[in-house]
Amino acid sequence: MTDEPLNIFEYEQAALAQLPPMARDYYMSGALDEITLRDNREAYDRLRVRYHVLADVGDLDTSTTFLGRTHPWPLVIAPTAFMRLANPEGEVAVARAAHAEGVTQGISTLSTSSLDEIAAAVPDGSRWMQLYVFRDRELTRDIVQHAEATGCTAIALTVDAPVLGRRERDARNAFALPPGLSMPNLDRLAGGVRSDRAESGLLQFFADQVDPSFSWKDLDWLAAVTKLPVLLKGIVRGDDAARGMDAGAAGVVVSNHGGRQLDTSIATIDALPEVVAAVDGRGAVLVDGGVRRGTDILKAVALGADAVLIGRPVLWSLTVGGEAGVRRMLQILREDFERAMRLAGTRTIADVTPDLIAPAIQ
Ligand SMILES: Cc1cc2nc3c(=O)[nH]c(=O)nc-3n(C[C@H](O)[C@H](O)[C@H](O)COP(=O)(O)O)c2cc1C
Repeated sequence: MTDEPLNIFEYEQAALAQLPPMARDYYMSGALDEITLRDNREAYDRLRVRYHVLADVGDLDTSTTFLGRTHPWPLVIAPTAFMRLANPEGEVAVARAAHAEGVTQGISTLSTSSLDEIAAAVPDGSRWMQLYVFRDRELTRDIVQHAEATGCTAIALTVDAPVLGRRERDARNAFALPPGLSMPNLDRLAGGVRSDRAESGLLQFFADQVDPSFSWKDLDWLAAVTKLPVLLKGIVRGDDAARGMDAGAAGVVVSNHGGRQLDTSIATIDALPEVVAAVDGRGAVLVDGGVRRGTDILKAVALGADAVLIGRPVLWSLTVGGEAGVRRMLQILREDFERAMRLAGTRTIADVTPDLIAPAIQ
């Protein structure tokens, strides 16, 4: 008999029972009626696998190369804001866990640990910086250059949030950071962004700083301020993906922000094939939203993703077990993926091809 969570759903249940209501609601919420939040998951559950047999799966190789790095398996930690709501060490604990498991970590612009703290704790960790473009371009450029200087190797430019999606639970709670937590990446905004801003609506304050007029023509500006590869995070259409690649992006993340932005937007695994076709091998294609099982990762890779990102699973396991919890969750998910690969009769990532997915049964 063990009390340890066996899967991500059990981490979620345990975390929801443990978190204070304001943090719990912030982490779990989707926009409006949460249709996309649910659909991201249900779309995976609708897919069926046509597995191979007798494929000699004794030795497995789950490694895969994209954006110039070989990853031990096709998974990256998604950037999520305010990790210190889950655990006092927040992003630093996640950085340690990710590094121990060889996983790349996405760091949110709204992280509650500074890039310096993260870099000091894990100097040779693999990290990407998530970027919101602010009306204040000097601040935006500072964030990018600070990320570069502290060892981030890619920029994930979030393109699905020109304005903030409406999460009614956060509105009801008047979401605020508890005293003592801040957003160090935004320190250079007048007066910094500390909990005292919270009373006037922290998320609204942040949203007001984001530049909703940022558009395709401004991508040149970003390319001019950084040497790092830029991923466009939040794409769900082939034409947008192609336009991004034409504009010099290194790749795209098929994402709807975990169902937190436009409700009733398409489930990401349903959007993936069109984007893969449009990118046509010119760069990396990643996907996130609702990935909870090894079979989800198998399906995403089969449909052409280089890797998946996971957001909430990290928050749940960080809440339940801190650094060790995140490590354990990553191990569980990796074992689950390895088992799925073996049972599907695939030995390498190259074997995980589209024909593994059954055509939709009408
Ligand atoms: C609590 C929370 C905060 C998030 N904060 C950010 C953020 O600051 N920047 C960003 O680009 N995406 C953010 N996301 C979206 C994630 O990067 C990712 O797209 C999403 O969580 C994937 O879905 P999943 O949670 O079902 O795995 C956030 C998601 C959650 C749940």
